[in-house]
Amino acid sequence: MIVVESKEKHSQRIANCIAEEIKLRQKFDQHLVLGLATGSTPIPLYNELVRLHTEENLSFRNVYTFNLDEYCGLEDNHPKSYHDFMYFHLFNRIDIPRENIFIPSGQIEPLFERDYCEGYEQTIKDLGGIDIQILGIGRSGHIGFNEPGSSVDSITRKVKLHDITRRDAASDFGGFDNVPTHAITMGMNTILSANRIFFMAFGEAKQEITKRAFCGEITDDVPASHLQRHKKTTICTDFDIT
Ligand code: PGA
Repeated sequence: MIVVESKEKHSQRIANCIAEEIKLRQKFDQHLVLGLATGSTPIPLYNELVRLHTEENLSFRNVYTFNLDEYCGLEDNHPKSYHDFMYFHLFNRIDIPRENIFIPSGQIEPLFERDYCEGYEQTIKDLGGIDIQILGIGRSGHIGFNEPGSSVDSITRKVKLHDITRRDAASDFGGFDNVPTHAITMGMNTILSANRIFFMAFGEAKQEITKRAFCGEITDDVPASHLQRHKKTTICTDFDIT
């Protein structure tokens, strides 16, 4: 499904959908598993979820979250870590139990990386899989940090970041050379196994790559293009790609 409207409208619509699902599960004493993204794109969505919590009493006590990725080499409390981002924009402002929050660690020793990543996958599976996944897209065509060349079968793992991705993050880190070179990311398979996906892309800079992803060939060169085969993805943009 493709919807074109403002990012605020999209954020409200997605937040309402998440809220309805949380409340439905609460009725049956069940939990909801959310896959979450970082970057500027989902910020209005997180603001809206916080508003639903503070103004409309939406509780997140039955919610588990799994973040897509984290930069390697950054401590959790580094100001540019995705841990810091998530606690600042969402987790510190809602009532989710801390033990329900999962974000890949950027601090795993190389020797233990594989076991750690397999453990991340297993925890998602043990909770029944991701019910709703939030996604943005990078100008390289990545989802999570699945850069061009990522296989559709890939699972959570350590990856090398594309130069476009590092260039786009350069201002955050005070220069290209300061941007971490590697990250831990959920895999393509992990993401595509989600029951429902909300894909968001806003602004002119994302128009061309979004069009390639959804109107072009399905190819590992544009990892987001594999979303064309996902059974329940809503494409939320503020530009037309048709
Ligand atoms: P952005 O990043 O939301 O900051 O544009 C999205 C991404 O790189 O996946």
